[in-house]
Amino acid sequence: MLKIAVIPGDGIGKEVTDQGLKVMEYLNGKNGLQLTLDKFELGAERYLKNGEVLPEKVLKKLETYNSIYLGAVGDPRVPAGVLEQGILLKLRFYFDQYVNLRPVKLFKDDFSPLKNKGVNDIDFTVIRENTEGLYAGVGGFLKKNTPDEVAIQEMVNTRKGVDRVIKYAFEYALKYGKEPKVTLCDKSNVLTYAHNLWQRAFKDIAVTYPRVETDHFLVDAITMKMVRNPEIFDVIVTCNMFGDIITDLGAELQGGMGLAVSGNINPDSVSMFEPVHGSAPDIAGQNKANPLAAILAVGMMLKHLGYSNLGDRVEKAVEQALKENQVTPDMGGNLSTDEVGNYIVTLLKQDREGEDDE
Ligand code: NAD
Ligand code: IPM
Ligand code: MN
Repeated sequence: MLKIAVIPGDGIGKEVTDQGLKVMEYLNGKNGLQLTLDKFELGAERYLKNGEVLPEKVLKKLETYNSIYLGAVGDPRVPAGVLEQGILLKLRFYFDQYVNLRPVKLFKDDFSPLKNKGVNDIDFTVIRENTEGLYAGVGGFLKKNTPDEVAIQEMVNTRKGVDRVIKYAFEYALKYGKEPKVTLCDKSNVLTYAHNLWQRAFKDIAVTYPRVETDHFLVDAITMKMVRNPEIFDVIVTCNMFGDIITDLGAELQGGMGLAVSGNINPDSVSMFEPVHGSAPDIAGQNKANPLAAILAVGMMLKHLGYSNLGDRVEKAVEQALKENQVTPDMGGNLSTDEVGNYIVTLLKQDREGEDDE
């Protein structure tokens, strides 16, 4: 029995995780999969009601789950950062989910925003360090609210933290890579301490993987390359902040924010799966958010939990829905969020190859 903690969160987070839940409920009992799904109400409503963000007792309870499935947090009624840092970053740090796995895969040529670049060109994975860097929360104000105010935000890079994520990237390239190749993305020409450490760690690890090709780009230049020559990438490894930024660009390359999926992984602890996008207050409550990223997050979670066959089927169903244009308005379709979720379940029912019902 696998226990999944579901945190729908705020805005479209609730709408898209409802569709992911339909998929999990359909697959439950198939091919030996036995899921228990428990919802946790965390986010703006709870905070506005009683000031709670992520109580210690909830955190302790989450330790007993096999994985967390999250929608998105963040609400215009709550000061920026309270929910994002208090829930999302807190979970990533608490469970030491040091890898943020973000595939960039175009499923259909029509959705490419790049002229002459199609499904064979846009297919790579960003591995983002997920527990350190500029996200470490170290810093403070000097002379706050005076004309001489100074705000300091430190970047923390530990050798152990950098080593483990780079190693993961090389292992990932060996297992799933195309060439295989790992590209380091940094700003070593300016961040001469932080990214000097990244450069040394990368070099030391690379020599232990002679079968994996290596490459390097500064972060500004990589954004240019991602748009101009996305086909040169296989696996990109980078720090927390740069990974955040380049994966929104990656999301657009693969067809939009509604398609980009993210796994927060600690191979030895509780991992968490979510779409890359946020709570999108601009479209929340209108039943028009694209649920495919949230559904792909279910696929990634099933693969992580050892149900590769079911994970592949979820991915195949998403690909099929995209092929048939059974999608929400952001992808040029005219289905609602609910209708896309229902359609994915219909496709899963049709494609029962290898299914083993219990
Ligand atoms: P966002 O990703 O929520 O939205 C950016 C744009 O993309 C918006 O125009 C939105 O309508 C569109 N979009 C996003 N997801 C979509 C989907 N599934 N279907 C169709 N369109 C979609 O980013 P933002 O507006 O910068 O942030 C909104 C809130 O979400 C903020 O509070 C932010 O902190 C939070 N946020 C949370 C997470 C998370 O919990 N994982 C991630 C990013 C942002
Ligand atoms: C993401 C989000 C988060 C991040 C925010 C909401 C804290 O943008 O998952 O990409 O910066 O990691
Ligand atoms: Mn982001």
